[in-house]
Formats: sequence, structure tokens, C-alpha cells
Amino acid sequence: MPPISCFLIFTFLTMTPTIFCVVGAVGVNWGTMASHPLPPPKVVKLLKSNNINKVKLFDADSDVLQTLSGSNVAVTVGIPNAMLRNLNSSKKAADSWVHDNVTRYMSNGGSVTRIEYVAVGDEPFLKSYGEQFHPFLIGAAMNIQASLKKAKLDSKVKVVVPCSFDSFESGFNLSSEVHFRPDLNKTMTELLAFLDKHGSPFFVTISPFITHLQTKNLSLDFSLFKETAHPHNFNHKTYKNSFDLSYDTVVTVLSAVGYPNMDIVVAKIGWPTDGAANASSNLAETFIKGLISHLHSNLGTPLRPHKPPLETYILSLLDEDQRSIASGNFERHWGLFTFDGQAKYHVDLGQGSKRLLNAQNVEYLSSKWCVVNNNKDLSNASASALEACANADCTALSPGGSCFNISWPSNISYAFNSYYQQHDQRAESCDFGGLGLITTVDPSMEHCRFPIEIRISHSVFHRPCNFLLVILFVTTLLVSEPLGLA
Ligand SMILES: *[C@@H]1O[C@H](CO)[C@@H](O)[C@H](O)[C@H]1NC(C)=O
Ligand SMILES: *[C@@H]1O[C@H](CO)[C@@H](O)[C@H](O)[C@H]1NC(C)=O
Ligand SMILES: *[C@@H]1O[C@H](CO)[C@@H](O)[C@H](O)[C@H]1NC(C)=O
Ligand SMILES: *[C@@H]1O[C@H](CO)[C@@H](O)[C@H](O)[C@H]1NC(C)=O
Ligand SMILES: *[C@@H]1O[C@H](CO)[C@@H](O)[C@H](O)[C@H]1NC(C)=O
Ligand SMILES: *[C@@H]1O[C@H](CO)[C@@H](O)[C@H](O)[C@H]1NC(C)=O
Ligand SMILES: *[C@@H]1O[C@H](CO)[C@@H](O)[C@H](O)[C@H]1NC(C)=O
Ligand SMILES: *[C@@H]1O[C@H](CO)[C@@H](O)[C@H](O)[C@H]1NC(C)=O
Ligand SMILES: *[C@@H]1O[C@H](CO)[C@@H](O)[C@H](O)[C@H]1NC(C)=O
Repeated sequence: MPPISCFLIFTFLTMTPTIFCVVGAVGVNWGTMASHPLPPPKVVKLLKSNNINKVKLFDADSDVLQTLSGSNVAVTVGIPNAMLRNLNSSKKAADSWVHDNVTRYMSNGGSVTRIEYVAVGDEPFLKSYGEQFHPFLIGAAMNIQASLKKAKLDSKVKVVVPCSFDSFESGFNLSSEVHFRPDLNKTMTELLAFLDKHGSPFFVTISPFITHLQTKNLSLDFSLFKETAHPHNFNHKTYKNSFDLSYDTVVTVLSAVGYPNMDIVVAKIGWPTDGAANASSNLAETFIKGLISHLHSNLGTPLRPHKPPLETYILSLLDEDQRSIASGNFERHWGLFTFDGQAKYHVDLGQGSKRLLNAQNVEYLSSKWCVVNNNKDLSNASASALEACANADCTALSPGGSCFNISWPSNISYAFNSYYQQHDQRAESCDFGGLGLITTVDPSMEHCRFPIEIRISHSVFHRPCNFLLVILFVTTLLVSEPLGLA
């Protein structure tokens, strides 16, 4: 169904939009692992101005949930993995989690937050975590479900568990022998029974970008939905893109263990724009456009024709400079928008316009940067840069990144500046044993941006100070003028 008729039906039948607008169910992941996150009111405006009506969170931040109230944006709240142990062992803890983080926002008088899902854990089955969360997961999910029932919210809010794509074995492999990882067998058996019993969908990450990194066989064109891509066969079906192949891997495994019709939600899917080869805005634009047009075509996949995923959440809304880079430097660059809410490229997500609108009136720190002082002996500068990078975000300097080919010592400056911005431009954070120099000349190059961070509320502590300085300055002017000093 084309988006326009969808929109019309939506307008006339606002009570039951999802029945008619299945193809419109595209949302975004909104993560906040950033040193200077865009303030929630600006993010919610960004969502609304781009007509993004579904958002998946990784926690239950009260500022964020409060800001989403009355917005009519459907929300998935998340329970961090570290809380699973306690939520398994204590029904009381589950009750208070639901009360504090769900009920409170849904019984807010007129202005409610539309919470649709509670995601128990964030990819708790990631292979790199080992089995540490397996013993608590089902207990935690059951306790949260019971707490929602007690709060009479179980008909509105469903409990789900976001699963990583490495929950499947041979998933990257085109082998017909796909199955859940053996260490997951017992937990997954219980999880699927739980989801089935409560009519909850299976949340899963699909990542053609990572699949492309890991499977040299699959071409970039195949990952990017290009018509010209060389097709691949899997279980006697022909696949024209990596997404369908991964999706049908999930369908195959669910069917094999007795759930051929379980709804699937693609909980994370995206293409990063920096920090690795083939991570660029151009390719990300091609990928997201291909994905959206594939979803809108309503073709489905060879195993589920005309049945696209129930919902699809793009990874991610914004770049986050403090995401873990354990699986790659690209992890901090999944955003449709830069950290400050500026569109990296343009795509019609269903907003009905081909252009994405930027965040408005973003407040930045001053136009100041920290660079290396070329007049100093720089023989130890690299060590200082490494130290800066241990805290700051130097992912753009990595091979394939946007700043990879800037020459020495500009790359040192990049590291210094990142550290300086992350520390709110405090003078002592541009010291580096005397090698740092604060400048008002933007050192950015054509392909390599030296960012200035967003002014955030914790810099409120500096404001009274600035205010005093302004008063002092104005007073000085007023006092000095009559004396002819101005
Ligand atoms: C999970 O909670 C149940 C119920 O309190 C408890 O019996 C069980 O030992 C817990 N599991 C773990 C691994 O702690
Ligand atoms: C959610 O509820 C728990 C339990 O009451 C509380 O400790 C926590 O701070 C709340 N917020 C988040 C973001 O988890
Ligand atoms: C792919 O499948 C083969 C056998 O079917 C197996 O030996 C290999 O480990 C698999 N590779 C991955 C990445 O799963
Ligand atoms: C667990 O293993 C058994 C025996 O191999 C298999 O029949 C079953 O389908 C597996 N279940 C899941 C959820 O993978
Ligand atoms: C993937 O590559 C391997 C080795 O290059 C080859 O044996 C295999 O047939 C390829 N698989 C597909 C599906 O193209
Ligand atoms: C980027 O994509 C091209 C084309 O598929 C491929 O040859 C190259 O190996 C990729 N680079 C990396 C680092 O994966
Ligand atoms: C560089 O570091 C070494 C070891 O810390 C130190 O001895 C040396 O004086 C430093 N050189 C400069 C120019 O700062
Ligand atoms: C750096 O790489 C970009 C492409 O990624 C290229 O256009 C630019 O000319 C390069 N700059 C230098 C100094 O090599
Ligand atoms: C900067 O570039 C030099 C020379 O290419 C390299 O040795 C050094 O590791 C780079 N430093 C950083 C922080 O990227």
C-alpha cells in the first residue's frame, strides 16, 4: 500500500491505524550512550517533524519517557541486562520496576506515554556475553509479565526479548543447517513458549552490514538491495538480497522448533557511516532506501510472501560517542542523524517527504577547538593522543574512517579536540603536557569534521560563571567608557 493512501486511511481511522498501515511500521532505536546527548525535547521534536511514530529505547530514562508523553509516539522501554538477576529473583523488584517505569507514565491523566513493549534485556544472548544472563532471563520476563498483569496493563504492553543475530548458527552461512546456538537451546525453548503464550513477537537484530563483514561471499550489492546483485540460493529458494536471506534464516529456525507463524519484529537494522571501510553515508543511504522500498513493496520474503516484518526499528536515530566499540569502530556511527540531530542523508521513512528535517536550535559549546601546538617538540605527542583516545572518540581515525587519511600531526589534533570537547572545553582538558593549544579557527577538513559538542544541562554548573563574567564585562564597559578606556 503506498504511503499516501496509508496516510489517508490513518487520518480517517486513527483508532486502528496498524491494521491498515502494516507497511508503515518503521521506527527507530533511540540510544543515549553519548557524552553530550541531544536533549530529549529536541529529540522528540525531531521524531515528530519527521513523522517517526515508533521508538525503541534501551532503558527507561524518566526524562525521556516524560518528554514522550502526549506525543503519540509508540515506545518500547528497555531493561538493561544488569537488572535481570534481580528481576528474576524478586517479584517485588519486578512490581516496582513496572510501577516506576511503566504504570506511572500510562496513568498520567490526560498526557500518557504510549508504551507498547517492555524489552527484557538488550541482546542478552550475544555470544560475547557467554551464558551469564541465560539463567535469569525467563524468570525476569515472567515476573515482568505478572507485574504488568497486576497493573492491568498486560493487554496494552507486551513483554519481548531482543535477540542478537548470533543466536543463530550458520546464520551467516547459507547452509541449510541453521539452528539456535546449542548453548541457547533450553532458554530459547522456554522463551518461545513464553512469547507464544502471550502473543508477543520475536524481536531480532538483522545486520546485513555485519553479515557482509563476516561473509566475504555476499557482495556489497547483495547487502544493499541492488537489483543487479548476484542472487544466492538457500533451501531451494532464490534470494536477491541479504535482508531476505537473514530474515528467512530466522523463519526457518522458528518453523523448525514449532513456531512457523510467530510474528517477527526486526529490532535493529542499519548501516553505519564511519569507522570502517564501506561504512559511509552514500552506502547507508542506498541501504536504508533499499530497505524502506522493500518493506513498502509488501513483497515479503520467499518463505513469508506478502508478510513483511510486523515492525522494523532502524539502528539508529543518532550517533552515540560512548557506545562500546568491542565489535568495531563503526558502532558509534549508526545514526540516520549525527549526534547533534543533523541528517546525514535523505530518505523517505514514511514521513511523505524525501528530505529528513534536522533538529532545530541546537545549542553548542563555544566555537573553540583544541589542536596540537606545532611550536612544541612533538616527539611524545602520539602517546598523549593515544591516552586521549582511550577516553574520547577517535573512531573516525580508524582505517576506512572519515579522518583516516588526515596526516600527522593533524590526527593528533583530532584526538586532542575530541577529548577537549567531551570535557566541555575545560581549559585543563587541552593541556597534554603543554602540547595542546586552544584555537578559534576550525581545523575541520573537507572529509573530516572536528566536532563541537552540544551544550548540555550538566554545563549548567558553568552558566552562573558565564553569567557573572558577562556582568563583569558589561560593568567594566559601563565603568570604563566614561573614563575613555573602551
Ligand atoms: C531465579 O529466581 C527463582 C525464583 O526466585 C530462583 O529460584 C532461582 O534460583 C533464580 N535463578 C537464579 C539463577 O538465580
Ligand atoms: C526503573 O525502576 C527501578 C525500580 O523501581 C528503578 O530503580 C529505576 O531507577 C527505574 N528507572 C530505570 C531507568 O530503570
Ligand atoms: C558454515 O558452515 C560450515 C559447515 O556447514 C561450518 O563448518 C562453518 O563453521 C560455518 N561457518 C560459520 C561462520 O558459521
Ligand atoms: C533443542 O534441541 C533439541 C534436540 O536437538 C531440538 O529438537 C530442539 O528443536 C532444540 N530447540 C531449540 C529451541 O533450538
Ligand atoms: C562461498 O565461498 C566459498 C569459498 O570461496 C565457496 O566454496 C561457497 O560455495 C560459496 N558459497 C556461496 C553460497 O556462494
Ligand atoms: C568493502 O566492500 C568491497 C566490495 O564488496 C569489498 O571488496 C571490500 O573487501 C570491503 N571492505 C571491507 C573492509 O570489508
Ligand atoms: C618524552 O617522554 C619521555 C618518557 O616519559 C621523557 O623522558 C621525555 O623527556 C619526553 N620528551 C619530551 C620532549 O617531552
Ligand atoms: C581522503 O579520502 C577522501 C575519500 O575518502 C578523498 O576524497 C580525499 O581526497 C582524501 N584526502 C587526502 C588528503 O588524501
Ligand atoms: C597519527 O598518524 C601517525 C602517522 O601516520 C601514526 O603513527 C599515529 O598512530 C596516528 N595517531 C593517531 C592517534 O591516529
